[in-house]
Parts: sequence; C-alpha cells; structure tokens
Amino acid sequence: MRKEVVLVAMVVVVVVSWVVAAGGEAAAAAAAVVVDPAWRFPSARLRDAYVALQTWKQTAIFSDPKNLTADWVGPAVCAYTGVFCAPLPGAGGAPGEVAVAGVDLNHGDIAGYLPAGLGLLTDLALLHLNSNRFCGLVPDALRRLRRLHELDLSNNRLVGAFPAAVLDLPALRFLDLRYNDFEGAVPRQLFDLPLDAIFLNHNRLRFALPDNFGNSPASVIVLAGNHFGGCLPASLGNMSATLNEILLINNGLDSCVPPEVGLLREVTVFDVSFNSLAGPLPPEVAGMRKVEQLDVAHNRLAGAVPEAVCDLPRLKNFTFSYNYFTGEPPSCARVVPAADGDRRNCLPNRPYQRTPRQCAAFYAAPPVDCAAFQCKPFVPSPPLLPPPPPAYPGPLPPVYPVPYASPPPPPLYR
Ligand SMILES: *[C@@H]1O[C@H](CO)[C@@H](O)[C@H](O)[C@H]1NC(C)=O
Ligand SMILES: *[C@@H]1O[C@H](CO)[C@@H](O)[C@H](O)[C@H]1NC(C)=O
Ligand SMILES: *[C@@H]1O[C@H](CO)[C@@H](O)[C@H](O)[C@H]1NC(C)=O
Repeated sequence: MRKEVVLVAMVVVVVVSWVVAAGGEAAAAAAAVVVDPAWRFPSARLRDAYVALQTWKQTAIFSDPKNLTADWVGPAVCAYTGVFCAPLPGAGGAPGEVAVAGVDLNHGDIAGYLPAGLGLLTDLALLHLNSNRFCGLVPDALRRLRRLHELDLSNNRLVGAFPAAVLDLPALRFLDLRYNDFEGAVPRQLFDLPLDAIFLNHNRLRFALPDNFGNSPASVIVLAGNHFGGCLPASLGNMSATLNEILLINNGLDSCVPPEVGLLREVTVFDVSFNSLAGPLPPEVAGMRKVEQLDVAHNRLAGAVPEAVCDLPRLKNFTFSYNYFTGEPPSCARVVPAADGDRRNCLPNRPYQRTPRQCAAFYAAPPVDCAAFQCKPFVPSPPLLPPPPPAYPGPLPPVYPVPYASPPPPPLYR
C-alpha cells in the first residue's frame, strides 16, 4: 500500500518536472533520470545518450512485450538492444570518438510515447521505430538531431499536426510517417527539401498538393489514403530525372491528367487510382518509357486508351477499370490484366462493362474542360547547376523496396 503511494508520488514529480520544463526539454530529461556519479562515461555524448535512453525507458515506455529494452541498464549504452554506435564522422569529435548513430526498435510492439529527451541523441543518423504503439505528439526536440538521415515512425499511433521538426533536419533523406494519425495540412516546404523518399500514406492529412510538388527530388513518393484534393500537379514534369515511384491512390484528386506526366522518363510505378480524374488519358503518357505498373483505375477518364501507352516496352500491368473509356487498342491485351484490368468501362465487345444506360448518361454531359480546373501550368526553367553536396552525407541511402523493409543501421558513418 505504502509502496504504491510512493510510486504515485514519484510519477507526479516526474510529470510536474516535464510540464514545468516545457521548452527546456533537456533539463526535464536530466531531472527525470539519476546518473550514478561513480560511472565514468567515455564522453559527454554517451552520457547524454544514457540520459535520453533512460528517460525514454523509465518515463515513456509503458509496455515492451518483446523485452527489447530489458537490457537497457547501466552506462554501456552501445550494448543496449536496438542501439548502434559508430565513430563520429569528420571533425565531429575527438579522433575515433564513438556516438550513438542509430536506434532501431522496428517491430517492437512497444507502447509509450516519444519524450522530448530524445533530442539529446544529437548524433543519431537513423531512427527506426516502425510497427510499435508509440502515441502522442512527435516532440519538437527532434530538431536537435542535425545528422538524422532516416526517420521511420511508420505504423504507430502518433497524432497531431504534420511534425514541423522534420522540416528542419538538414541531413534528412528518408521520411516515413505512414500509418499514423497525423492530421491537417502538409507544409509546402516539404517538397523543397532534398528528400529521397517520402511516405505519408494512411494518415488523416488533408491538403491540396501544392504547385511546388514537382520541386521534390524524391525517387519514391507515396501519399495514398489521405484526404487531398485539387489538381494532379503539372509540376510533376519537373521530376523527370528523379522520380521512380509515385502512388497517389485514393486522394480525392480532381482535375485532368496533365500531359506533363509524360515527362517522367524514369518512373516505373505510376498509380493515381481511386481519384476523380476526368477527361482523356493524354497520349503523352507514352513518354514514361520505363513504366512497369500503370494504374488509373476508378476515375472518370473518357475517350480512347492511347495505343502508344499499351505499346510501352516495359509495361507489365496497365489497369484502367472503372472509368468511361470507349476504345481499347488490340495491343493492350498484352499489358492489361485479362480478368479485371479493363472492366466497368464503356468498351464495346469487352466483358463486364458498364450498362449502355450508364455510358449514355455519362457521354450526354458536355465534355470536360480541363482548363476549368485552373491547375497551375508547368513552365520548365532553364537547366540549373547541380546543388552542392550536403555538409554531412550520412550513410548511403538503401535501396527502397515498397513496402520499405527497414535496413539495418550501417556499421559506420561514411
Ligand atoms: C519478457 O520478460 C518477462 C519477465 O522477465 C517474461 O515473463 C517474458 O516471457 C519475456 N518475454 C519475452 C518475449 O521474452
Ligand atoms: C523545378 O524544381 C527546382 C528545384 O528542384 C526549382 O528550383 C524550379 O523552380 C522548378 N521549376 C519549375 C518550373 O517549377
Ligand atoms: C495489376 O496491378 C493492380 C494494382 O495496380 C493489382 O491489383 C493487380 O493484381 C495486378 N495484376 C496483375 C496480373 O499483376
């Protein structure tokens, strides 16, 4: 009985110290964790890491069914499960000085939250926390992770606005926030950042894709299953040299398909299914010379499927079911899945089409005027000099399959 009271009192003290120190997060973290004065840490960095990790374990982890943090005991943080140390890169510290470079608790099923004290892990390059039960807000103190290269918070229970801290991480290249409950708008600055991969799918984000969308040099962009709307941006044309995979499934896009998508000469996966895209499928789509998976199903597209699209040399799966297409060239048979790739259109002599009445009603309406959507045009600028390399290049980006299988942290900073 008495023990319980003491425990409750301790929790209250911890909570109070956190609230009081809002803004001075590091101080709060220090207040919550006692460091044995007899311990000698190899460096102040590793002492800070100890405080950060113990703060997390002692105050913000409520369930750890796989016992991943059970060995988070004592000053040897580099030996903790899921914690990876590496020599500091460049002129970061004394020669050979070691720092905590990665935390990987993927698939840990851990319940808790992300304390502001994580901002003490200032040398972190990788933070992989996918498939846990972390809830609450992403702490703004993550801004202090100036070397963070990969942030994977996917498949947790995080809430709140799009975490502004990620817009202020100069080394960030890989951002995975999918399968959480982030809500509201995505700041347009996100698309001006030098990210290589952006996964935001399956949140509660709500915004129109901004017209600077095409500024993003990302090779993979997955925004499926949010509540966007507005135009499929013509600025996609600005991603011609870099974009490899784009999935904009079920985002409420409401415009025509801009011919500029045909500038995506490196794209292998292009999926805009389950939107409200209208008008024709422009023949320029045949400019996607490397496309393998092309999905425009569940839209309001009309007219004939351009033959040149079906003739694309690498195309393996072209799905356009649930539209209002009226013509399908014979060469499409090679690439359109026979069972259901073209069903529910207005195609003569094909099985499982819409009823003649549905098709007649659709084509009785005046044709779509693409200009009426008032989407911003894309006017290419003259070629620019390549951007300077980032100050800290971090580990080389891994090859990202979809879905992303989190790579193990690298043995060393590069
Ligand atoms: C975790 O530790 C607890 C208590 O020591 C033990 O009962 C449980 O079986 C452990 N779970 C796993 C997955 O090792
Ligand atoms: C294309 O993207 C670059 C940044 O990558 C940007 O500076 C430029 O303004 C964009 N061009 C257009 C026409 O949007
Ligand atoms: C073609 O792609 C769609 C998704 O875009 C998928 O559902 C379907 O199973 C694929 N079909 C084949 C035969 O690969």
